[in-house]
Amino acid sequence: MSRVIAITNQKGGVGKTTTAINLGAALAVSDVKVLLVDADPQGNTTSGLGIQKTPGLATIYDVLVDDKDIEDAICPTSMEGLDLLPADKNLIGVNLEIVGADQRESILRRKLEKVRNKYEFILIDCPPALDLLTLNALMAADSALVPIQCEFFALEGVSELMDTIERIRESFGHPIKIEGILLTMFDDRTNLARQVAADLREFFGGEVFKTVIPRNIRLAEAPSHGKSILAYDPGSRGSEAYVQLAKEVLTNEHKRSAQAG
Ligand SMILES: Nc1ncnc2c1ncn2[C@@H]1O[C@H](COP(=O)(O)OP(=O)(O)O)[C@@H](O)[C@H]1O
Ligand SMILES: [Mg+2]
Repeated sequence: MSRVIAITNQKGGVGKTTTAINLGAALAVSDVKVLLVDADPQGNTTSGLGIQKTPGLATIYDVLVDDKDIEDAICPTSMEGLDLLPADKNLIGVNLEIVGADQRESILRRKLEKVRNKYEFILIDCPPALDLLTLNALMAADSALVPIQCEFFALEGVSELMDTIERIRESFGHPIKIEGILLTMFDDRTNLARQVAADLREFFGGEVFKTVIPRNIRLAEAPSHGKSILAYDPGSRGSEAYVQLAKEVLTNEHKRSAQAG
C-alpha cells in the first residue's frame, strides 16, 4: 500500500514544486520508495530533477490522453528510490482533451492503480489552477498537502481550495484528507512573516505541520542544477527543513497505520 499526496494550492509561486522535489528526495533518502508525478504543464518538477524535455520523452500527457502504459512513461532520477512521471508543455491541452472522456475526473487515479503497490509514497505536483488536472490529482490522492507562503495575502484562495476539497468528498464520494498545511518561505527576521505564521496556526490549528520551511536561497538555486536540495547542498537550512518535514510525514503515516491496524 502506498500513500498518494497531492501538493496543491491554486496560487502560483507558493512552493509546491520545491516541496514536491525536496520532500520526495528527503523521503527517498529515508529508504522509502517514492514516485513524483509532475501534473503541471510548466514541467518544473521534471526540469528541476535534471530530466531533459526532449520531443521523444514519454510524459503524463501520453498516459492520460493516448493511453500509454504508465510504466513506460515513469523514469528513474539521479536519486536512488526516487522515480518521476514527467510532464512537458503538451499537458496544457489535456484539460480540453479529456473534458469529454468517461469519468474524466478520475483518469489519473485509474492510471496510478497499476503502479501504486510499487511505491510507499506518490507525490503529485499540481498546476496553479483549480482545473481538471488538479481535480484528477485530488481524486487520485489520499490527502492534500497545501503549501502556503508566509506573506500578506497568504489565505487568498485557500477557502476556494477547501471548498473544492469538500466538493470532492460530497459530490464524488472521495474521502480525501488534509495531510497538512505547510508554511513556506518563512523569513523569521520580519514581523510580518511571524504574524502571518501565527495567524495561520490559529486559523488551521493542528492541521499545520510543525516543520516550517525557511526562505533559503539554496532552495531556489538547486533546480537550475537539476538537483534536489539534498544533493545540491545537504548542509543548508532548506535541506534540513525538508528532511525534518519528511520525518514528520513518516511519523504521521506510522501513527495512522498503528490506529488502523
Ligand atoms: N523556501 C524557499 N526559499 C527560497 N526560495 C524558494 C523557496 N521555496 C520556493 N522558492 C522559490 O520560489 C519560486 C516559486 O516556488 P515553486 O516551488 O516553483 O512554487 P509553485 O510550484 O507553487 O509555483 C521558485 O523560484 C523557487 O525556487
Ligand atoms: Mg510549480
